[in-house]
Amino acid sequence: MDPIVEVLESTMAVQDPYIVTHQQRVAQISLAVAREMGLEEQKISNLEMAARLHDFGKISVPIGILSKPGKLSVPEMAIIKGHPVTGADMLKQLTVPAYTFLTIMQHHERINGAGYPFGLSGEDILLEARILGVADVVEAIAFPRPYRTSLGIETALGEISQNKGVLYDTSVVNAFTKLYSGNMFGNFFCCKSFFS
Ligand SMILES: [Fe+2]
Repeated sequence: MDPIVEVLESTMAVQDPYIVTHQQRVAQISLAVAREMGLEEQKISNLEMAARLHDFGKISVPIGILSKPGKLSVPEMAIIKGHPVTGADMLKQLTVPAYTFLTIMQHHERINGAGYPFGLSGEDILLEARILGVADVVEAIAFPRPYRTSLGIETALGEISQNKGVLYDTSVVNAFTKLYSGNMFGNFFCCKSFFS
């Protein structure tokens, strides 16, 4: 991995160590899905970098908003929703491949156009971003957040299955489900109580 990623992770950890752990787990899930789907190595490598830095833009979001339990206000939500573009814009200044920052910019887009920041839909969203989007949601549900404990992998599987083809790419969800049911993640999702 490019040393710049580790430097940026250290920078992020000063504000919020949770984000770094989250991004690393999202990268592991994304890579497993990308390999299962047969993406070429260059795309997998760009996706790994994007996953490891996908929430970089959150360094511009106050920690009080990032770790706030319960519902965010509309202005707070607007600040959060700025993070894909902020992160991509900052990373653009570095020697980050175009596909990496585009993937970061699109990781909250959804298949039906209900995502942000641009409301892209279907295959207008990069495949790497569709993979990252699913991995991000699975990790966020299956592992603890700073403001709550884990909701469990079964809840994560329910979310992506119910919204397959609506919010989440069908082939990405199928690849993840196949890997999970084939026990390809081993103990990765087992340690809910350990992390809680
Ligand atoms: Fe994000």
